[in-house]
Amino acid sequence: MFKKASFFIAAGLLAVAPVQADLFEPEDAVKYRQALYQTFASQMSVMGAMLQGNIEFDAAEINRRATNMANTAVMMGDTYFPATRGVETSNMRDRAWENMSDFQAKGAAFGEALTALVEQSSQSDFSLRDARSAVGAVQRSCRSCHDDYRAR
Ligand code: HEC
Repeated sequence: MFKKASFFIAAGLLAVAPVQADLFEPEDAVKYRQALYQTFASQMSVMGAMLQGNIEFDAAEINRRATNMANTAVMMGDTYFPATRGVETSNMRDRAWENMSDFQAKGAAFGEALTALVEQSSQSDFSLRDARSAVGAVQRSCRSCHDDYRAR
């Protein structure tokens, strides 16, 4: 079960950095990170299609997709360590490293919104209306970090 603390630790980058740097080359870690974010985007696109009425609303499917994201989020910490700063293929802005506590706070906000979505979507009365609000909160948490810390 995904706990609020998990993404915080996962996004908690610097604390356990030496181990990660031993496990992964910086270039590979960036590829891994980008793949995890692509996994988020794929899960979100299914939920987004439901909110837009392009596919049928299905609370269990939302719960499955949100859980996929929670299981993915805990791996994110593997990919963030100082040697990845400056990897050319990375679109992380340098200012993220300079504002690491704010970057981590945005990671924690995402973790909280995602935890709420996992929990709420497991309830039998979870409605389309609830989904709009809970999925919307996750979408906003993605955007809030990208606005400040992702290039493009
Ligand atoms: C705490 C900050 C943060 C949060 C929260 C966050 N992202 Fe990102 N995202 C980034 C950064 C930084 C990058 C650039 C990574 C790199 O290239 O090194 C990125 C990159 C991406 C990419 C591009 C990956 C690629 O192939 O280059 C996608 C897609 C993406 N994020 C989707 C999402 C989605 C969807 C969410 C929410 C469910 C989300 N992100 C939440 C910081 C965040």
